[in-house]
Amino acid sequence: MFFKRASADSAVDVREPEPGAPVMALRGVDKSFPAGAGQTFVLRRIVLDIAPGEFVSIMGPSGAGKSTLLHILGLHDSAWSGEYSLMGHTVHTLPAKERSALQKRHIGFVFQSYHLLDNLTVYENIELPLSYRDVKKSERQSIVADVLDRFGIVAKKDLYPSQLSGGQQQLVGVARAIVASPAVILADEPTGNLHSGQAQEIMELFRHLNQQGTTIVQVTHSETNAAYGSRVIRLRDGFIDLS
Ligand SMILES: Nc1ncnc2c1ncn2[C@@H]1O[C@H](COP(=O)(O)OP(=O)(O)O)[C@@H](O)[C@H]1O
Ligand SMILES: [Mg+2]
Repeated sequence: MFFKRASADSAVDVREPEPGAPVMALRGVDKSFPAGAGQTFVLRRIVLDIAPGEFVSIMGPSGAGKSTLLHILGLHDSAWSGEYSLMGHTVHTLPAKERSALQKRHIGFVFQSYHLLDNLTVYENIELPLSYRDVKKSERQSIVADVLDRFGIVAKKDLYPSQLSGGQQQLVGVARAIVASPAVILADEPTGNLHSGQAQEIMELFRHLNQQGTTIVQVTHSETNAAYGSRVIRLRDGFIDLS
């Protein structure tokens, strides 16, 4: 096994979805911002099904709405309209507290701009998702040590994010997203600041996790990265491009 897996917890009621049901399903999702007297739409009428175990790449020009879509899927944005079902939970009707529990339990998110916590060390940032779970301290230490080692960042473990290069912060961001073996990984240009060798390692890690059953959605501008996935969704001006 590539990574030691965190023990399951029972803090969240996780109903088993129907066999074959999508992990994530969006119906008629719109997202807009107020603009002058009207509003500007950033996502329009998005309909999307992601099946269990899929590895999907979202591509499209800058400003197309890729990050916005990923933040909605990752429950980081609740200011949208439409319907979203995540692992059988109707997100659009879920109270904020339950959304947050669902997110912590099931989703590993790699932010385009890293979003590491400045006042925590590399070690503490990576440990954080495990601390939301019912994982014993000794087991947490062993899992984090394993991940630090695999990402080649053992020597950085006591540094703070401001003491790291952009590429190193991105690696820590990816490590934090995968450390708790989430069912779903959402990654926003996860290799944008890495050199090609590191990018390849991250894509191979994603492929491995996907082969183990993890559902992955990545935003990428790289055809090489997209080739690791099984499907490409193209966004253009907030619409899914069906042409
Ligand atoms: N707070 C905001 N107010 C108005 N427009 C916004 C805001 N945040 C993002 N946008 C717009 O939403 C569009 C999509 O952004 P984003 O999802 O980040 O695109 P991508 O990730 O595809 O480059 C962009 O045109 C951006 O300017
Ligand atoms: Mg973006």
